[in-house]
Amino acid sequence: MRSLIDIVDLTVEEIDELIATANDIIANPDKYAEKCHRKKLATLFFEPSTRTRLSFEAAMLELGGSVIGFSGASNSSAAKGESVSDTVRAVGCYADIIAMRHPKEGAPMIASMRSPVPIINAGDGGHNHPTQTLADLLTIQREKGKFDNLVVGMCGDLKFGRTVHSLIHAMSRYKGVKFVLISPDELKVPEYIIQELDKEGIPYEETTSLEDAMPSLDILYMTRVQQERFFNEADYIRLKDSYILNMDKLETAKKDLCIMHPLPRVNEISVAVDDDPRACYFKQVLNGKYIRMALILKLLEVA
Ligand code: NCD
Repeated sequence: MRSLIDIVDLTVEEIDELIATANDIIANPDKYAEKCHRKKLATLFFEPSTRTRLSFEAAMLELGGSVIGFSGASNSSAAKGESVSDTVRAVGCYADIIAMRHPKEGAPMIASMRSPVPIINAGDGGHNHPTQTLADLLTIQREKGKFDNLVVGMCGDLKFGRTVHSLIHAMSRYKGVKFVLISPDELKVPEYIIQELDKEGIPYEETTSLEDAMPSLDILYMTRVQQERFFNEADYIRLKDSYILNMDKLETAKKDLCIMHPLPRVNEISVAVDDDPRACYFKQVLNGKYIRMALILKLLEVA
């Protein structure tokens, strides 16, 4: 039985297979409509979510399965002090697979050690978010047709942004990828990730200037400043508007730049950018559903 806790739990070949399945689902949805008949997905969301939870639920429903779950720790027995291990042992009696989001880093991993069914990490604190990365990878594959030799700009809250951490780990495995890490000094990529990049000899540059970085980028991954992870409201207010992507800033960008954002957006991308053909963030949302369908099939070992 396999769980998905970290994106590197999947090999590059397995990611290729998931992408191939997702593309086949997009082309032939009817073929998949009953694949998970009588299977149940539980969504255990101890933290807010719109897209990720509904995307998992839509994915399971489109596979002919059904869904149970809760959103918000206050609605669950966690409010009574139950451990995540006990929660998943109980939920595993009702469901065939569990998607879990939790504010504590490592909680889905701990849960997977005691769970009778596969656990999917749907975001753990400021740590990882592997299924958002799968959505990002499917988007990059569909937009760019490749993962090699891309200059990947990541902009905003690179410290607390878990989608950034997982995407760096995923993209680090492809040849010729260079990262341009654009953030205020206070929100730089955590040191452990920088050390990994150094150790693997992966090229990266850290800068505070989106304008300077723009002309070189093939991908620009914008992120929200993660208010909920700040200890101090004044710091959040000072940093929240560090980067706002607008049409003026895109003037020096490549014609085939791919603009991404895991969403929700607060104001990092002005709405005028939404109509630019380079804006890919709503495509990411749709791709997220298809790749989660592929992942559910894989973890449930449904052929
Ligand atoms: C992200 C998350 O939850 O980490 N959202 C998502 O799942 N698409 C990004 C964010 O909240 O900023």
